[in-house]
Amino acid sequence: MNASALAVQDLVAGYVPEVNILRGVGLEIRSGEIVTVLGPNGAGKSTLIKAIAGLVTVRSGSIRLFGEEISGVAAHEMVQRGLAYVPQTDNIFARLSVEENLEMGAYSHGRGITLRDEVERMFVLFPRLGERRRQASGTLSGGERQMVAVARALMAKPRVLMLDEPSAGLSPKLVGILFGKVREVRELGVTILLVEQNAKAALAISDRAYVLAEGRERITGSARDMLASPEIGELYLGVRRGLS
Ligand SMILES: Nc1ncnc2c1ncn2[C@@H]1O[C@H](COP(=O)(O)OP(=O)(O)O)[C@@H](O)[C@H]1O
Ligand SMILES: [Mg+2]
Repeated sequence: MNASALAVQDLVAGYVPEVNILRGVGLEIRSGEIVTVLGPNGAGKSTLIKAIAGLVTVRSGSIRLFGEEISGVAAHEMVQRGLAYVPQTDNIFARLSVEENLEMGAYSHGRGITLRDEVERMFVLFPRLGERRRQASGTLSGGERQMVAVARALMAKPRVLMLDEPSAGLSPKLVGILFGKVREVRELGVTILLVEQNAKAALAISDRAYVLAEGRERITGSARDMLASPEIGELYLGVRRGLS
């Protein structure tokens, strides 16, 4: 088995005092895995990702990145530690060009000399973005904007990449293209935590999955088992028992 990349134990977290959104969540992602977190709206999926990224107050529990405790580490330091996060919304600078967005992703590292090369490397992975490198990012299609957001996060050379509902608002075809890219990113050696509403597409590219409900992980298993599970089908895949 590969080393643990991200391990969350008994995580309790929330936004306002005395209201816990996460009530003892546990999950583990091994190096090189793609793991999806599913769950109904309001289950706490974004809160989980934000708590791991240092953006929501952790009240108790632990978060370890390659064995090192990171709960309490400031959000801006997470990038240096190898953890990148693509938020669900507002994840690009709309008025900046594609190129400028990617450059922003590397700023925290201050590696000016290789910046040009890093941007070009992203255009190899995302050729569509290369063709639109000087276009204002806000004028791109939804799928292209998500690719800018992912590419920008990759500019920091993360070991673990967390994506919060990257497929939201995309057509099935674009979801396919984007998730194909997510697999390519994994092939580059990046471990991926994916939060999704689009259970079917997410499970299709994932190794394992967790279902979050009421602030705890309720179901966990291989992506393949989840896709075949009637319970999951009914809850998240829009399949009704007895009708399909
Ligand atoms: N910034 C915030 N301040 C206070 N409560 C919030 C905030 N963001 C989310 N919540 C609450 O946390 C709960 C979980 O939300 P969220 O993590 O966004 O769920 P999901 O991503 O699974 O849809 C919801 O009840 C939501 O109202
Ligand atoms: Mg969310």
